Amino acid sequence: MRTAMLRSLLRSSSAARWFSSSSSPERKVAVLGAAGGIGQPLSLLMKLNPLVSSLSLYDLAGTPGVAADTSHVNTRSQVIGYAGEDQLGKALEGCDLVIIPAGVPRKPGMTRDDLFNINAGIVKSLCTAISKYCPHAIVNMISNPVNSTVPIAAEVFKKAGTYNEKKLFGVTTLDVVRAKTFYAGKANANVAEVNVPVVGGHAGITILPLFSQATPQPNLSHDVIKALTKRTQDGGTEVVEAKAGKGSATLSMAYAGALFADACLKGLNGVPDVVECTFVQSSVVTELPFFASKVRLGKNGVEEVLGLGNLSDFEKEGLEALKPELKSSIEKGIKFANQS
Ligand code: NAI
Repeated sequence: MRTAMLRSLLRSSSAARWFSSSSSPERKVAVLGAAGGIGQPLSLLMKLNPLVSSLSLYDLAGTPGVAADTSHVNTRSQVIGYAGEDQLGKALEGCDLVIIPAGVPRKPGMTRDDLFNINAGIVKSLCTAISKYCPHAIVNMISNPVNSTVPIAAEVFKKAGTYNEKKLFGVTTLDVVRAKTFYAGKANANVAEVNVPVVGGHAGITILPLFSQATPQPNLSHDVIKALTKRTQDGGTEVVEAKAGKGSATLSMAYAGALFADACLKGLNGVPDVVECTFVQSSVVTELPFFASKVRLGKNGVEEVLGLGNLSDFEKEGLEALKPELKSSIEKGIKFANQS
C-alpha cells in the first residue's frame, strides 16, 4: 500500500493527470539539506507526492538550482529554493512537515556516532529555527546518529517550550526497507507482500529486525535469521564501503524518507491505520526514553506507540544487548543539547 504512489507513477501514461489531484488539503513540506546526496532525490520524490502543495528546499547553498530543476516536473506542488541561513525562516514558515537530511555522511571505517560532533550542531541550529518558525510542524529526522539527533531535537524544543513528542520522528524506514528486501530474497517471497517490523534504534546492533513477526513465514533456519539480522544491521556499512569514500546511502534513503514522509502526511490528512516503524519518545515499550517501534500515525502525529509483540529468544537477546548502547547514545544527545 505504501508504495502505491510510486507504482502508480510507473504505470500511468500521464503522470501529470495522476498527480493533478488538488482535493487533498494544502500541505507545506520543507527539506533541510535539500542540495545533498539524500536531499536531491528526496526533493524529487516529494515533488512527485500529490499530498504536497508547497515544497520548500533549503540548504546552505545550491538549492535555487535544485528547486528550478525540480519545479519543472508537472505535479501539484509549487517549489521554492532557499539558500543560506538568512532564508531559513522563510523556508520554514507555515510548514506542516520538515524533513532533515542535513549533515555529513559516513566514510568507510566510520560509525554513525563518529558523525556526532558535526551533525549534532547542525541539528541543534535547525531545530532552534523550527521551534521559532513552524513550532507545530511534524519533524522527520534523517541526520545521523539518529539515536542521538532525535533526543537533541527534543531537548531544543523543550527549551523553546514547543516540544510535542507526538510530532518528532527519527526516520528508521531504511532499516525496514532493507529488512524487507533481504528477507524476501531468502524467503523466496514477493517483496511487495513482505512485512518486517524493525525496532530499537538506528545504528549497528541497536537495529533489531523482528523476523519472527515477518510475513510471510516460510520457516527459515536460525542461521539464516541470524545472517539476515546482521545484514540488516550492517546494511548502511555495506553501502558506505561500496561507495568507497563517496558517502553513504542516498538513493535508497531518499526512497525510504519519501515513504515515511508520505505516511506522516496521510496520517495528518486522517487516513486510518497508517502504521510505520519509527524512533520516537517512548514510555511503554522499554525503560528507554526513545525507542523505534511500530507507531500508528494520525492527525496529531503519533496516535499510538504499539508494543513489541511476541519476540523469539534470539530477538529477546538482541533487545537486551542493544539497550546499553542505545541508552548511552540518547544520553549523549541530551547532554550535548544542554551544554550551552
Ligand atoms: P551530503 O553531504 O551529501 O548532504 C548533506 C547536505 O546537508 C549538504 O548539501 C550540506 O550542504 C547540507 N547541510 C550541512 N549543514 C547544513 C545546515 N546547517 N543547514 C542546511 N543544510 C546543511 O550527505 P547525505 O549523504 O545527504 O547524508 C545526510 C545525512 O543523512 C547524514 O547525516 C547521513 O549520515 C544521514 N543518513 C541517514 C540515514 C537514515 O537511515 N536515517 C541513511 C543515510 C544517511
